[in-house]
Amino acid sequence: MPDPEGAAPNSGVDVSEAQIAVHWKEEEHLPPPAKFVSQANVADGSIRSRFTLDRFPDCFREYAELLSWERRWHTTLDTERAPFYRWFVGGRLNASFNCLDRHLPHHAAKPAFLWVPEPEAEPVLAVTYRELYERVNEFAALLRDRAGVRAGDRVTVHLPMVPELPVTMLACARLGAIHSVVFGGFSGEACGVRIADSGSRVLVTIDGYYRGGKLLDHKANADLAVAAAAREGQRVDHVLVWRRRPEERSTSAPWVEGRDLDVVTELPRFRGAEVPPVPMESEAPLFLMYTSGTTGRPKGCQHGTGGYLAYAVGTSRIYQDLHPEDVYWCLADIGWITGHTYIVYGPLALATTSVLYEGLPTFPDPARIWRIAERLGVTILHTSPTTIRLLRKADPEGPRRFDLRFKHLTTVGEPIEPDVWRWYFEVVGGGRAAVVDTWWQTETGGVLCSTIPGVDPMKPGSAGPGALGVHPVILDDHGAEVPPGTGRAGNLCIRNPWPGIFQTIWGDPERFVATYFRRFNRDPTSRDWQDWPYFAGDGATESSDGYFRILGRVDDVINVAGHRLGTKEIESACLTVREVAEAAVVPVHDELRGRRPEIYISLKPGASDPGQVASAVARAVEEQIGKIARPSAVRVVADMPKTRSGKIMRRVLGAISNSLDVGDITTLANPEAVAAIQALVRPAGSSPPRPSRTDGDAADPGDR
Ligand code: PRX
Repeated sequence: MPDPEGAAPNSGVDVSEAQIAVHWKEEEHLPPPAKFVSQANVADGSIRSRFTLDRFPDCFREYAELLSWERRWHTTLDTERAPFYRWFVGGRLNASFNCLDRHLPHHAAKPAFLWVPEPEAEPVLAVTYRELYERVNEFAALLRDRAGVRAGDRVTVHLPMVPELPVTMLACARLGAIHSVVFGGFSGEACGVRIADSGSRVLVTIDGYYRGGKLLDHKANADLAVAAAAREGQRVDHVLVWRRRPEERSTSAPWVEGRDLDVVTELPRFRGAEVPPVPMESEAPLFLMYTSGTTGRPKGCQHGTGGYLAYAVGTSRIYQDLHPEDVYWCLADIGWITGHTYIVYGPLALATTSVLYEGLPTFPDPARIWRIAERLGVTILHTSPTTIRLLRKADPEGPRRFDLRFKHLTTVGEPIEPDVWRWYFEVVGGGRAAVVDTWWQTETGGVLCSTIPGVDPMKPGSAGPGALGVHPVILDDHGAEVPPGTGRAGNLCIRNPWPGIFQTIWGDPERFVATYFRRFNRDPTSRDWQDWPYFAGDGATESSDGYFRILGRVDDVINVAGHRLGTKEIESACLTVREVAEAAVVPVHDELRGRRPEIYISLKPGASDPGQVASAVARAVEEQIGKIARPSAVRVVADMPKTRSGKIMRRVLGAISNSLDVGDITTLANPEAVAAIQALVRPAGSSPPRPSRTDGDAADPGDR
């Protein structure tokens, strides 16, 4: 049960993840393993003295100096248009140059990626830095000459976990074009909405890919995406289609002459092409990454070049502890921010070797991950609590049967239960690996709260203190600071900007200020960053040791398996089913995925079979967003609980779905509706409730 004080309330939100957070007891500290410390990039806690608030912002030069600049910056941070910050102003650089060209003298023959196809019979493909450089140059030439891509253009990329994804991103970056990667598991419809919002004329996709033992036809999504974009007024001129199997096309979707371009047949013309990396101003946008917010429309988080890249490389070195000889494996999908920062930009800028895996972590069996890690000698593993829970459930002793050599383990994306953390530490890491629980967001570009693995004690279930140079604070709803150690939850905010912070929401600067900064701003005309605390949208507590524990979202966002979904997006999808009169979506606690959306609908008069409508609603959600949004249950109710002004009380529905106290319902217009819904969700005698699932599957952290 949530502590009533612990619930981090927010304007207009009547059920939130933070309100259904389970309160864990304060855990013990564990020292970082000695062997890890002896080799860590940072093993001396005095590094913090270089990043204190009085050294801000110049402390971050240390990160920028890890990059190669075509022209050095003259101003570390310009706050003239706060909260639209400009980092390393006057500097010029190219992201692809930093990830590729500069490594050729020393690391040309070293693998940048070890690509593991899902079918186990297919060999692992090592892509060296030289090969990656060549492939990026060729594809950049193709983008430029066949699709007319120029600096500043947006290119939407809808690709799964294949080497062609980082090749495409770096080719865009080489030209100064802005990539907008859409998670491969998102539907064509969802991709189309993002194409339209970003104004992309070019879509890069692939014919098919393997997932869960099936060769999925991905090109079909591109056709849906182009149609959806067209409905929103955006024309796509070029669809560039990579091939999963070079020898033949893996799609039965029609080929649209003049629009679709078969990359594999076109590329030979560009063999050996060299495309000079375009030097970009530090604040030129590098990419857009769409994420869900409190309205139906996804937000295109715009990340700049210099600040983002400096933060990616600095935090990769310190928190991932990457060394050139490591074999690093981040299981996230590159289609999410974790993959952008901690598979592509950070590790490549440090000339790391990364494993890239195409498929499902549990295919063909739950030991697949351990087989790959053993065979490739993975030293650093980076994944989400959902995947850890899934692997633990599937085979709790599995990792012990392999010769695993992890020295460092990362968890990211959702709160991790202390006993899940312990399994990760003891069974996966054999008690020898340092574990970091990294809290951050699409908007933040890189880690904001984490222990420094070679310095700080670990605490199961807590992300740790603010990252170097990042100064978090918990504010109550009135903007007053909640002192550490009180156990009281509040809104997690950051006092100061940092180089990885996103620059704006693409095309909607007003929403950028309103969503992230207005809430606790002291003076809207102020140009002083101290007046603009960043509002993260998460509830958290701070312990007396300065460690932050994240409770979950305080807004209309649901974090499913570490991926954000907007309740409004899901509700709009429900309302496309003709028979549905009203829809309300609430987060419900899920043993494997952390949270899942649960849907309540009421039907229009005369609607036929409720079971059929419920199935149609589940289907509509999958088609319009993707399988990741698949609800845990769709419940058809006669009457939604409402306020006297007619607003649906999601708080009450959320409480029922999570077996929590519904609280005071006397002010509702129809309090009797509550008992009827309770009876539906929790039939008499059932305790605790087992919601009727719309699917019986195990969690797939990257649902397709
Ligand atoms: O609620 C927090 C949760 O994930 C949200 C950000 O999601 P997204 O933008 O998709 O980025 C995920 C990967 C960086 C946050 O607002 N979250 C992220 N990391 C953690 C977390 N919750 C608890 N602990 C974490 N380590």
